[in-house]
Amino acid sequence: MTASDERDRRVLDLYEQLLEIEQRLIPTGLHVFGRPSQTGERVDMLKMIASFDRADVGARAFPDLIAEGLGLTHSQVSNNPHAQKETELRDRQTVDAIISEALNNFLVNGPEPAIDWLEQTANVGAEQSRPMFKLLENVSSHLGTNNEIDSLLRALRGDYIEPGPGADIVQNPAILPTGRNTHAINPYAVPSAIAFVRAESVATSLLERYRAEHGRYPRSMALVLWGLDNIKTQGEGVAQALWLLGVRPVRDALNRVTNVAPIPLAELQRPRIDVVMTVSGIFRDLFSPTVQLLDKAVRVVAQLDEPPEMNYVRRHVMEQVENENCELDEAMIRVFSNAPGNYGTNVNFMVMDSQWEREDTLGDLFVTRKCFAYGRDSSGRAIEGIEARRALDRALGRVEATYQNIDTFEIGITDVDHYFEYLGGVSKAVEKQAGSRPAIYLSDTLSRDAQIRSLEETVRLETRAKTLNPKWYEGMLQHGFRGVAEIEGHVTNTFGWSATADAVDDWIYTEVARTFVLDEEMLERLRNLNPHSAHALVRRLLEAHGRGYWDVEASVLDQLRDIIGSLEDQLEGVA
Ligand code: BEZ
Ligand code: MG
Repeated sequence: MTASDERDRRVLDLYEQLLEIEQRLIPTGLHVFGRPSQTGERVDMLKMIASFDRADVGARAFPDLIAEGLGLTHSQVSNNPHAQKETELRDRQTVDAIISEALNNFLVNGPEPAIDWLEQTANVGAEQSRPMFKLLENVSSHLGTNNEIDSLLRALRGDYIEPGPGADIVQNPAILPTGRNTHAINPYAVPSAIAFVRAESVATSLLERYRAEHGRYPRSMALVLWGLDNIKTQGEGVAQALWLLGVRPVRDALNRVTNVAPIPLAELQRPRIDVVMTVSGIFRDLFSPTVQLLDKAVRVVAQLDEPPEMNYVRRHVMEQVENENCELDEAMIRVFSNAPGNYGTNVNFMVMDSQWEREDTLGDLFVTRKCFAYGRDSSGRAIEGIEARRALDRALGRVEATYQNIDTFEIGITDVDHYFEYLGGVSKAVEKQAGSRPAIYLSDTLSRDAQIRSLEETVRLETRAKTLNPKWYEGMLQHGFRGVAEIEGHVTNTFGWSATADAVDDWIYTEVARTFVLDEEMLERLRNLNPHSAHALVRRLLEAHGRGYWDVEASVLDQLRDIIGSLEDQLEGVA
């Protein structure tokens, strides 16, 4: 490759990354209870909703319709891969700009003018775009009204509140209007047929990503499964676990998913991956039949008469029984959660309170909290939260990759402390048991093309799209005291990824310091709005340096120490 080709390739890669950040939907500000969404927010939301096929209302995704209308579907084959990629990126931007314009038009003038405009601009027939605009009209009118306060008051009076599904708005716009009594899901319906179809490509991409980086498939993976996520997606995470094991769900005469059937190896065309599943307390409570299904899937796969190099579950179970004088039932345990009645890993609390010396302690805490086995033994007796620390240690000791599915744009890995407590916690526990850090991946199934990213890539993307993005933090700062707490929360959650997985680049802390602390005007705003959170943020940066996660010049540290001193004076009323 010539130097100029190389330069073009790099510029293009950068450009693609910039587009990825730009096109990421981020929440600007917090939801205010009782307040309908504003027009600007609504365009972004509608755009996201319109980017998926909506078979239930006969609507096709706008990006596909427009690309077809403009004749961009089958991009011209070119001998030059740069030129082709550049054309693709440009096409994507053109389509994106047309969608934004059409939706603005729709919000200002209504559906018919927008339908006409789209026909003239992108040759999308009126009958093709109308079903989507109809759906958007419905969504938009619901977003423009809000009954939350009225519903709350009626609920407090003990009146009847209409039920509505609990889901992500993009996944299922029927969650609107809000202010209803959220109902969950029938666990026997999980995974839905759609979730199982969607999960195949995610599981394949996940395994291909690992293979590209390590030259072979992972033999064992640790998965985190949450309750609310599997409600929202009707079991995408569950379905991904089934695909990794190489089984499909089987429904009984009442259409309940109560069994699994192995997918033949000839069809699967890869080994069955061993999976150890740490499920949240909420998942355990809501998805009891699903816990049984996952346990059954492992036991079925472990007992298939297949070569060990194509069935890692069987291979590991056999090895454990032979080498460790372990009962078959114990060797097949793969579903773990908290003790009955307990929730969470507490790793987040330990990190937030700085109450730890060695990183190992964080992984140990995860295991202590999550080492309770669930399922059914070979004679059919229920195992309901039996302490099985040795079984979890053994299973984690074989893990080469850890993974969690992310299915919503609203909550990412630095928005809440739960991602690092779970995925970070299990990864740290694996590091100790296996003797090396696992590869850590997250999927992003919220966009049209589900993507697999490494943890490090995800931390960078979230940081650029949110924490360091003026659109995001200015949106937060409009909420005053609470907004500063959100910014500080993001910094602490980012720090959580250093503590549990060493996944945060130095530049991230440097830019956080520059943006929020070393910029005098910004620091002044933060300390006026919420000196407690401003103090906590600076303290966390110093902790990041103190624990070896942030390599930074001494002069910056001196500045931070001066600032923390003055914040302490302010909090104590000295200044
Ligand atoms: C869950 O839905 O399972 C969950 C929610 C919040 C934190 C952890 C787990
Ligand atoms: Mg580092």
